[in-house]
Amino acid sequence: MTSDNVSIEHAHQLRGVVRVPGDKSTSHRALMISALADGTSRIEGLSTGNDVASSAMIMEQLGAHVERDGSVVFVTGPEEGLRAAIAPLDCGNSGTTMRLLTGLVSSIHGDHDLVGDASLSQRPMDRVAIPLELMGALVQGRGKSVTAPLHVQGRSTLRAIDYHVPHASAQVKSSILFAGLVAQGVSSVLEDVRTRSTTEDMFRSAGINVESDDVAQGRRVTLHPGRPEACHWTVPGDPSQAAFFCVLGAVHRDAVLNIIDIDASPERTGFVGVLQRMGATIESEHRGTHLSLAVSSSALVATEIHSREIPSVDEVPILVVAASAATGVSAFRQMNELRIKESDRFEGSMELSRRLGCRVWSDGDDFFVEGIGGAEKFSTFEIDAGLDHRMVMAAAVAGSAGSGCRIAGSATVASSYPHFFGDLAALQ
Ligand code: S3P
Repeated sequence: MTSDNVSIEHAHQLRGVVRVPGDKSTSHRALMISALADGTSRIEGLSTGNDVASSAMIMEQLGAHVERDGSVVFVTGPEEGLRAAIAPLDCGNSGTTMRLLTGLVSSIHGDHDLVGDASLSQRPMDRVAIPLELMGALVQGRGKSVTAPLHVQGRSTLRAIDYHVPHASAQVKSSILFAGLVAQGVSSVLEDVRTRSTTEDMFRSAGINVESDDVAQGRRVTLHPGRPEACHWTVPGDPSQAAFFCVLGAVHRDAVLNIIDIDASPERTGFVGVLQRMGATIESEHRGTHLSLAVSSSALVATEIHSREIPSVDEVPILVVAASAATGVSAFRQMNELRIKESDRFEGSMELSRRLGCRVWSDGDDFFVEGIGGAEKFSTFEIDAGLDHRMVMAAAVAGSAGSGCRIAGSATVASSYPHFFGDLAALQ
């Protein structure tokens, strides 16, 4: 096997405390907001993944100064503001970088080229191009879905917008909000499902006048233009990474795991409720905006999961592993957004469950998993994760709780969690 392939053995017993990396969403935004500010911001606990490293590098290309001092990162935004770079801005594997950045550079006068890896270059950018063009920027890409490489012509003044986001997407909302910082007038974004509020919360902390109002199941965000102030940011642990260890602790036969200090936002922690509904023993302890979870081996039962519960659908692949270990048929409803993530996670999650030995089938945007009543019954399997970090981690959890596995393309885990395999091994 090459270094990009990994073999996972069944773990006999799992005990320990896991501190997952800093939240990826908060980390990207901390870098971007700090780069836009006039002065030096301090960021503690920044994600160590490659996705966030791409955002940091791009902020430097645009004129910010980024300096690491141990676990603290200092970002100084230039007094005169960011300026267009000559070289292409390489977003790597990171959809959040590309979508938020498209909004951010729309507000910087000049020409910007945005590129990404093979996975990112397949992902639709029309969802940000459409509102940003309505605001006065020019966003060009390939084909109808406007895929990268992107060419963006930014303007230092944009038109304000009143936009109803047609998908549940924090990235689209955030892209518009970044552009709205230099718009002439008040911009407003309406979403039908409450997605993570990271951008609006962090803008507020940086002195921007932004209001949020709940509207039925959704939310309206109203933004007044302005320049963010330099801040001190403390990044909480990433709940989407915690989900892997939560499922591992629940489905493994002999496990007691503590996952500490993650972001407690309701839009991010829907997976905890799903697992508890399935019968998982999870004790949660809230400390301010942080959450710690204690999880131990549990016999799971099937459930029905709607994408509204997990608005980003990031935790669905690992919940499919939980459903595969449960007794009964679990239904995953309205999961269309899974198809346009780092890989087609709709097909990928079904295939993973199939390889574990489960019967799976789909009906339109819904799919179903008939669990086999215990991870110890999982088959040994091989899988190619493509360029999808979450598929690597979901497969590794299934192999560790089950009968082992071989994962091709495992190096892509570094997009979000470079020490994942080390943290997993430390629990045995
Ligand atoms: C993110 C939003 C989500 C999520 C992604 C991070 C963000 O994507 O899947 O991992 O930081 O705004 P969508 O906006 O496509 O739902």
